[in-house]
Amino acid sequence: MKITGKTKIVGLFGYPVAHSLSPAIHNAAFEEMGLNFIYLPFSVRPSHLQEATRAIVALDMIGVNVTIPHKQQIIDYLDSIPAETKLIGAVNTVVNQRGKLIGYNTDGEGFVESLRERGFFLKEKTVLLVGAGGAALAISFSLIKEKIDRLILTNRTFSRAKQMLKKLEQIYSKVDIQVVEFERRNSLPCSKDVELLINTTSVGMHEADPSPINLEQFPSSVYVYDVVYNRETELLKQAKRKGMRYQGGLDMLIFQGALAFKMWTEKEAPVEKMRKVATDYLQQKDGS
Ligand code: ATR
Repeated sequence: MKITGKTKIVGLFGYPVAHSLSPAIHNAAFEEMGLNFIYLPFSVRPSHLQEATRAIVALDMIGVNVTIPHKQQIIDYLDSIPAETKLIGAVNTVVNQRGKLIGYNTDGEGFVESLRERGFFLKEKTVLLVGAGGAALAISFSLIKEKIDRLILTNRTFSRAKQMLKKLEQIYSKVDIQVVEFERRNSLPCSKDVELLINTTSVGMHEADPSPINLEQFPSSVYVYDVVYNRETELLKQAKRKGMRYQGGLDMLIFQGALAFKMWTEKEAPVEKMRKVATDYLQQKDGS
């Protein structure tokens, strides 16, 4: 990578950022495409987020990715965000459009793209979604936009799932959405109808984590998606044993990164290169 007077700067705002995969993925992508861009990690303390955000304009940066703990707070410091991103309440990508900062959430679209790549299409499907955090909401909006037929939500904290239902109903009405208690997730009356099961919880991130749901009740035709990206989770191992199709969250990460790349550079992202870099990075981490 050769830095010149014309190098364009993109960044990552988080706290901490030291273990993020994104700098490796994006810098490799810029290099692959021969673009004079650089992606830098910025460890921004919460008390400095406002100043850091205004610096995007002051330093004429192209944009940033935003990660924990800033995804919600940064909204207050941006010039505009699409209505849906406002409802999701979290931004992961900022674009500097001639001095105006626009915030987006590319999680849901990244999720949809990653499924599409595997030949799974969401239209008219029945989907069971576990979890009701930020990722769950972003994914749910996209599921509805893709015209699924039915969405079944379950979450450890029932009230949070109900709140999510309310948000989803604010902009869409055609999809049949139902909330079931977490305690009933392993014996669902509707289990035979489910075609796609998505785990959006953090259960599975750590080595000893159990599966957030038992797959025994589902037909083997169910497609299982786990947004956890750093390992093959117990849920995915179960799916594999049952002969189900399955996918981990690394693809979602790659595609949401690819969408950000396109917004910043106006070029299609080299997805294969990004995937290879991310996979190698995770393998190295396992080995270290
Ligand atoms: P994100 O933005 O990544 O989705 P989040 O907003 O903190 O993160 O949401 C985490 C999700 O994982 C929530 O659905 C959470 O359930 P609660 O709403 O009950 O907190 C879920 N989660 C985390 N740990 C869990 C556990 N041990 N068992 C079940 N669900 C869990």
